[in-house]
Order: sequence, then C-alpha cells, then structure tokens
Amino acid sequence: MPTYTLNVNGNALSVEADSDTPVLWVLRDHANLVGTKFGCGIGQCGACTIHLDGAATRSCLLTVDQVKDARITTIEGLSEHGDHPVQQAWKEVDVPQCGYCQAGQIMTASAFLSENPNPSEEEIRSAMHGNICRCAAYNRIEKAVKLAAG
Ligand code: FES
Repeated sequence: MPTYTLNVNGNALSVEADSDTPVLWVLRDHANLVGTKFGCGIGQCGACTIHLDGAATRSCLLTVDQVKDARITTIEGLSEHGDHPVQQAWKEVDVPQCGYCQAGQIMTASAFLSENPNPSEEEIRSAMHGNICRCAAYNRIEKAVKLAAG
C-alpha cells in the first residue's frame, strides 16, 4: 500500500492507503477529521465538501492519489477558533436543525464568498443549491450566507 503525505489544514498528514481510497475516508478514518460527513458517496448531496486549493470540492468523489499535491482544508481547519465569518453568521442565525449537512454547507459557502464577496440572493441560492439539507433549513442557510457577506 502506498504512503501519501497530504497537506491537510496546514499540517503534513502521512497516510498509508490504496491509491483509489476516497479522500473522505482518508480524512475521517485516518486523520479522525470527522467533521466532513458521508451522505451519499456519489457526489449528489454535498455533505462531504472540503476545500481543495481553496475551491469547494466533494471529497467522496476524489481519490487520495488525486489530491496528493493539493492543499486540503476541512471544517476543522477553516478557522482556528470556529470564528470564520461564515461560522459566526451560522451561529448568529442559528442555522442547524439536525446539523448533519452543516459542515458541507459552511465549506461551500466560505469558498463561494471568497470568490464572490458581495453576492445577490440569486447567486447565493445558485451557489448553495447543490448542498442538500434534509431538514430543509434553506431559508436560514441563505440568510446566514447573506449575513456573512455583510
Ligand atoms: Fe459526497 Fe454526498 S457524500 S456528495
């Protein structure tokens, strides 16, 4: 089994894994970064969203081999004290119901806002539409993204 040294949340993470292991499982099982969630495993729900070189990416669809040269950020590494503007807005709006999809939502929102700091409501809706929330907290999610945008 090959050994990979990944750049995760600014740290070097050494893992022994088959080259086709999804990054999602490397993060959860090897690095114990369990904030990244498994929802569908086929790129449809967004629960597993991480940042790859700053871009929101579904970690269930990528293999460890595909990310070996990338900068990986998980929800645990988004901010030092959970105080990223998106996380603060999430708390203020009290977005989560069950909470399961929230890390993925926050990772999508934060990557989106770093690309588009002053989005319209339509742009927010379009950026977030691929992240499914089974509690249907969509209004609060949009409100929090808007608040984080300022
Ligand atoms: Fe990756 Fe659903 S678990 S998109």
